Amino acid sequence: MKADQESTVRRPETGPLLVEIRLVAEHDFPEWLQLRLALWPYHTDEELLVEMHQIFAVPDSTPVFVAVGSGGGILGFAEFSIHESVSWCSTTNVGYVEGWYVRPGCRRSGIGKALLVKGEEWASGRGCTEMASDTTPEYSVSPSAHKGLGFVEAGDPLHFRKTLSSSYFP
Ligand SMILES: CC(C)(COP(=O)(O)OP(=O)(O)OC[C@H]1O[C@@H](n2cnc3c(N)ncnc32)[C@H](O)[C@@H]1OP(=O)(O)O)[C@@H](O)C(=O)NCCC(=O)NCCS
Repeated sequence: MKADQESTVRRPETGPLLVEIRLVAEHDFPEWLQLRLALWPYHTDEELLVEMHQIFAVPDSTPVFVAVGSGGGILGFAEFSIHESVSWCSTTNVGYVEGWYVRPGCRRSGIGKALLVKGEEWASGRGCTEMASDTTPEYSVSPSAHKGLGFVEAGDPLHFRKTLSSSYFP
């Protein structure tokens, strides 16, 4: 983890300390699936697993970052991609947050932020100058979390965008 991320991650009141943000590995599949099911409970294990194998096969275009805790377990994950165009954005090749989840006991300690920063760094490195995301009403915390990390609503209250300025990365 980069030094700037370390400084933004606070120790949770309870629960393990974040030690690393890294790309998902094959041995993470059981925990990654568990967290994906928690985020998308209306999907079956089988549906999510098929998608995971497709995503995992092309980490250059659909990277998945996991937050690893001091006990070795995964505390959260974020999945990213690049969309050629997004209707509520003004640039092309937009970095996109496809999935974002942190275990309930580990929230509000900066893990969600550290995961998004990794994705923004990746998108910026791929030439993206804008990041986008969306949510649905079931995810009640999502708008506040997006706005807390610099996203703004773009027309629809559940659509978000963020400019990735060159000064964003120290
Ligand atoms: C969204 C989510 C990933 C954020 O993870 P997190 O680890 O709690 O995020 P952080 O601790 O890095 O919070 C970053 C900022 O977001 C904002 N934020 C996060 N949770 C918030 C909440 N419950 N209420 C208000 N603001 C919140 C704050 O500005 C926060 O910064 P602060 O703690 O310094 O005030 C997590 O809440 C989650 O998994 N929620 C359920 C799934 C979900 O909604 N995913 C997004 C679907 S699109």
